Amino acid sequence: MPMVIAQVLGKDEVRQFRARLDVADWQDGLKTAGTLARGAKRNLQLDDDSELAVSLGNHVLRRLGDTPLFVSAALPSRIYPPKFNCYTGGGTYGAHIDSAVMQIPGTGITVRSDLSATLFLSEPDEYDGGELEIDSASGRQTIKLHAGDMVLYPSTSLHRVAPVTRGARIASFFWIESLVGDEGRRALLFELDRTIQSLTPSVPDGDRNLLRLTGIYHNLLRRWAVT
Ligand code: NI
Repeated sequence: MPMVIAQVLGKDEVRQFRARLDVADWQDGLKTAGTLARGAKRNLQLDDDSELAVSLGNHVLRRLGDTPLFVSAALPSRIYPPKFNCYTGGGTYGAHIDSAVMQIPGTGITVRSDLSATLFLSEPDEYDGGELEIDSASGRQTIKLHAGDMVLYPSTSLHRVAPVTRGARIASFFWIESLVGDEGRRALLFELDRTIQSLTPSVPDGDRNLLRLTGIYHNLLRRWAVT
């Protein structure tokens, strides 16, 4: 199920990103489409090797590390360096599923895409269309978030970006390999962690049951984590 993680970037950070992205040298996104995506993809992307993409990407990674909800939900093992795209002038990305395994260019490191993430960098009123539509077992979710907010969803999901018919939709997107690849196990750990976090303020320090629950969390993670 898609999960929204609000304010991964604050408004000042978004402004700083946009000051640079709005004047960036955007390139045709077809250059980087996988064979599955070719034909469906019509957008602009930043050169991944550019100083701009690398420095903004690193900033996003640092902020993700400081975002407990992200860490708890994703249990990240590896994160593909964040990429940046821009949809404008009818730009769209038809229904597709992201590639399962990706190599980080210039390294021998592969990332299995367990989770896909889109961090919105344009406010919803800056453009028409551009919704991220994600199919899940419970139906289709339509996602259009405030700048700085991010959606995290299983990479197994069929998804698309609706055509942008006015303005420009700028976003960062990337993939996460989780310590716990199985979605059901990851969801259980997340639920348990949330329960522990919400119980913690209401019980005395050193509460035995809370200690036991915390122990169960770590022992399940130990059993399921693949590093
Ligand atoms: Ni995709």
